[in-house]
Amino acid sequence: MPSIAVLLSGSGSNLQALLDAQAAGELAGEVTLVVSDRAQAYGLQRALNAGIAAAYVPLATPRGPLRRQWEQRLAGVVACFDPDLIVLAGFMRVLSAEFLDRFPNRVINQHPALLPADGGDTVTTSSGIVIPALRGAHVVADAIRLRLPVTGCTIHRVTPRVDDGPILASAEVPVLPDDTVESLHERIKAVERRLIVATVNRLLRRE
Ligand code: GRF
Repeated sequence: MPSIAVLLSGSGSNLQALLDAQAAGELAGEVTLVVSDRAQAYGLQRALNAGIAAAYVPLATPRGPLRRQWEQRLAGVVACFDPDLIVLAGFMRVLSAEFLDRFPNRVINQHPALLPADGGDTVTTSSGIVIPALRGAHVVADAIRLRLPVTGCTIHRVTPRVDDGPILASAEVPVLPDDTVESLHERIKAVERRLIVATVNRLLRRE
């Protein structure tokens, strides 16, 4: 059975979707490791509840030589489990080329907005509307601030360029007139949870 490592910084509801699929015998792999850069990340608790190895690898200073050391430690922990797939499920750190080179073609990321296949600055939706490609850590708020009629979510392979890399799956989510960041993000995450299970299965079954 192929193995999966999940890296996260937060609540881990997408991890939970993978764990639920696994428990139901509907995941083509096995989550063997969950790692977080935040001790309070509830995703760590979800892993422990499911009897899965959980590691907290703290990052004291976000820049400088200590960051490199942190990333090497992180890579060391992940390498111990030799995962076939590494899922960034709400992991709020950018990984360097050095990290990605240790796990070629094995790292995928969830992004709570639509991204273009060509790495450009706009996305054309299914109804032909052209919207800006939202990148960074605040894209759900950006979708509301820019009054976009539609946003969505994307799963892509990770390259050293932030929120870029070959797209594996995406789905649109309408922005409702009275949406708050929380309500919109919750609806996006509901879609993301289905998409991550389907995409992981597709990748591990090499479909
Ligand atoms: C998701 O919206 C994902 O796209 C983003 O972080 C969120 C993680 O949610 N990168 P959760 O922690 O899995 O609930």
